[in-house]
Amino acid sequence: MHILITAGPTREPLDPVRFISNRSTGKMGFALAKVAAEAGHVVTLIAGPVTLETPARVRRIDVETAGQMLEAVQREMQACDVFISCAAVADWRPAVCSVTKLKKSEMPGVLQLVRNLDILETVRPLKGHRCFVGFAAETGNPEQEGMRKLRDKGLDWLVANDVTEPGAGFAVDTNRVILFSSDGREERLPLLPKVEVARRILACVQTSFTSAGMV
Ligand code: C5P
Repeated sequence: MHILITAGPTREPLDPVRFISNRSTGKMGFALAKVAAEAGHVVTLIAGPVTLETPARVRRIDVETAGQMLEAVQREMQACDVFISCAAVADWRPAVCSVTKLKKSEMPGVLQLVRNLDILETVRPLKGHRCFVGFAAETGNPEQEGMRKLRDKGLDWLVANDVTEPGAGFAVDTNRVILFSSDGREERLPLLPKVEVARRILACVQTSFTSAGMV
């Protein structure tokens, strides 16, 4: 299979030195890329700004903003069979980005933001036979929010986790997730290393492919 993965945060600049972003380190997405490449799949990894090494045999495209990530996903979508949207894409960006560094005296006391496009929703018309996997990082009630996002974003699989749980979420090497599928399956995984979580996610994706008659 050809697997397209997004990973890490995005940065939304306010001026050449300041930005808004989030706590994602890209570890889960990079673990997915590593495990998928080791299993013999063709892997394209679109990465926001992270400090991780590119896994062997993975083609990596670096981006910074949500807009750039969307463009890269649109460009790469045609060639892929599976799209795993693991990135913590910033939902908002500053309404204005100054070309020169804003002086303290010029800084607005209130930051005006505009919504970024949702990448998964934007590329949904291109889905066709492809398997789409989304992530939901929640701070409580991952079941309810996970099921809602699975439906609303038209996904085949949704990986939900509670990022406030010890050992789960950002900047750690382990994760505890629940996988929901559009055909009603639910897999509740114990706390595991992210590479092992990645293996289980890929196994789930593979079952969707096999049942659709594609390998
Ligand atoms: O709605 P929420 O942001 O929690 O959904 C998370 C899922 O949506 C993730 O799979 C993430 O990669 C994706 N997403 C996206 N575009 C955005 C924000 C999130 O594709 N602008």
